[in-house]
Amino acid sequence: MTSLLIRGRVLSFLREPVAADDLDACRYEEDGAVFVRRGKIVAVGDFATVSAIAGDVPLADHRPHLILPGFIDAHAHFPQMQVIASYGAELLDWLNNYTFPEETRFSDAQHGRRIARLFFDELVRHGTTTVAAYCSVHKASAEAFFAESHARNMLNIAGKVMMDRNAPDGLTDTPQSGYDDSKALIGEWHGKGRQLYAITPRFAITSTPDQMEMAQALAAEHPDCHIQTHLSENHAEIRWTEELYPQAKDYTDVYAQYGLLGRKSLLGHCIHLSDREADAMSESGAVAVFCPTSNLFLGSGLFDYQRYRRRPNPLTVAAATDVGGGTNYSMLRTMDEGYKVIALQGEKLNPLASFWQITRGNAEALSIADRAGTLDEGTDADIIVLDARATPGMRLRMETVSALSEELFLLQTLGDDRAVREVYIAGAAAKSTLSAA
Ligand code: GUN
Ligand code: ZN
Repeated sequence: MTSLLIRGRVLSFLREPVAADDLDACRYEEDGAVFVRRGKIVAVGDFATVSAIAGDVPLADHRPHLILPGFIDAHAHFPQMQVIASYGAELLDWLNNYTFPEETRFSDAQHGRRIARLFFDELVRHGTTTVAAYCSVHKASAEAFFAESHARNMLNIAGKVMMDRNAPDGLTDTPQSGYDDSKALIGEWHGKGRQLYAITPRFAITSTPDQMEMAQALAAEHPDCHIQTHLSENHAEIRWTEELYPQAKDYTDVYAQYGLLGRKSLLGHCIHLSDREADAMSESGAVAVFCPTSNLFLGSGLFDYQRYRRRPNPLTVAAATDVGGGTNYSMLRTMDEGYKVIALQGEKLNPLASFWQITRGNAEALSIADRAGTLDEGTDADIIVLDARATPGMRLRMETVSALSEELFLLQTLGDDRAVREVYIAGAAAKSTLSAA
């Protein structure tokens, strides 16, 4: 099916909403429609106008549900599907005891292909249409990820992790092999269909200075690629990093010294940044990625979302699951926990801003808003359908809801994969067809 008219209550964002009643930041049609042709959004607006443009095309009538851009997850680890829900450790022990042993299994390409398939099934079930993902150190894991993503015609960003020290045998590369494998993957996958490559040194602890130089060379040779890594997640991690890189001013400066901070740099966590580090992030345009379920689960700390956004030199922020340090694939569950992290610091995140963050906000942070996250005409038709009455408890609560922002807050607070009725990837229904796939 190359053309489709999707009818429902259509909601997208034009800019970041400043308050729960800032409806000027939204594009909302109570009886709306999105006309999709050959994977792109051709027209969006009120049903009468858009159906006249569409003419005689198949109709997917999702009334009374909400139609939104697909959710974007700015940081997740696909080899950690069997790490999620591992008990009792903070970051460094969690990596050594659970994560590194599990990731060694991805030397087996067949295992990687199986997990990649299940990873995308899970993302789609939860309404996530784009992810920025870490693969394992093994080139084959990235090949499995991209092959599966490409077969599903999804817009995804990923990279083979580069790590050459402080990890077990079987889970390290070398500066040269990490460079060569990354380079080959960029050549094969970056820009193929909807695939994008992220140069991915895991974090400063697991890369030698020689490897950081190789990551720097890759970034200089491929300025259109993303860069992703971890920054300032846990106090023991920060102390060890400062010991390993004594010449750097602080943890953020390690990445700055290797030319790894820029607009396409995605820095996971950024919980314990000093003002100097936050300024350095802001000046470079690098993105601080908020991973609330992970930060709570690993006891890492509270990301100061509102301080970062409101400081004189604001940070660009994205939101993410960080599966499997994170505890849920759902961006609704993620923002519910995010709301609580922000509340613990005496602030609130309004529901419109929350949904902006996981759609347009994340798309802008990932430099893909020209393609995803908005429902704008000409962008890719990655679209989800949300049902705020998906469970008996939600249905009952909806009896007392009158405003759109209340409905969104209910979806965020009580919703999960059950609230996602349908998912369209480049215009094709992807959730209702999952079991048949
Ligand atoms: N820091 C380095 N690697 C990881 C990882 O896999 N998960 C998290 N949460 N932090 C990291
Ligand atoms: Zn991570």
